[in-house]
Amino acid sequence: MAVTRTVLVHPLLVRITHWINAFAITCMAMSGWQIYNASPLFGFRFPAWATLGGWLGGAIAWHLAAWWLLAINGLVYVAYGLALGHFRKHLLPITPVLVWTDFRAALALRLRHQIGQYNAVQKLSYVVVLLLLILAVLSGLALWKPVQFQALAGLLGGYEVARRIHFVAMAGIVAFVVLHLSLVILVPRTLPALITGRARAKPDASQ
Ligand code: HEM
Repeated sequence: MAVTRTVLVHPLLVRITHWINAFAITCMAMSGWQIYNASPLFGFRFPAWATLGGWLGGAIAWHLAAWWLLAINGLVYVAYGLALGHFRKHLLPITPVLVWTDFRAALALRLRHQIGQYNAVQKLSYVVVLLLLILAVLSGLALWKPVQFQALAGLLGGYEVARRIHFVAMAGIVAFVVLHLSLVILVPRTLPALITGRARAKPDASQ
């Protein structure tokens, strides 16, 4: 009979930064939609219930406050991920063959989920969202201080192009969140582990 034990699957720092990140991104997206509504780039506005800040000035205050949280928290997570090998161990390798194999297995409902071990599609989505967050921050800086960050704004193609890049990065991040939450609903046993850090594992399961 297999004996079960609990193992640490998500280190404390990953858990703390993940939840701060989720809070900061929610505030940034909702306040960003309020800012967008003041001068829409496209032919639609975001519904008032989905926005934060109440008016343009309030939304900018929320957006900047949440930005500091996101930036400092993101730097801590990236420094940890690089210095202690978290990215190498958990978010890599990602190869087209591995992604395709896991994607096909997921479509055929044959992809087994072992808590603490991400499949290749999951790894790819995490790396893509981290890159989109960096793009959102860089384009946001170019929009916030176009004079001080002139070189950055120029590199992104100017203020108007930076505005579109910022919107596309936001849309990609929101699409990730929708997919991410759908997967958590499909495999809900992954959630407690991201809160407590621990999960039950068979004696032979590796971390
Ligand atoms: C809002 C923005 C969010 C972003 C950008 C995000 C991003 C991420 C990333 C990058 C990881 C991998 C962490 C690592 O090991 O380094 C992760 C894992 C995870 N996230 Fe999120 N997340 C977000 C929100 C949420 C929310 C709201 C929930 C649940 C209500 C959630 C549930 C989870 C779970 C359960 C895992 C672990 C998955 C597993 O063990 O297979 N995330 N998330």
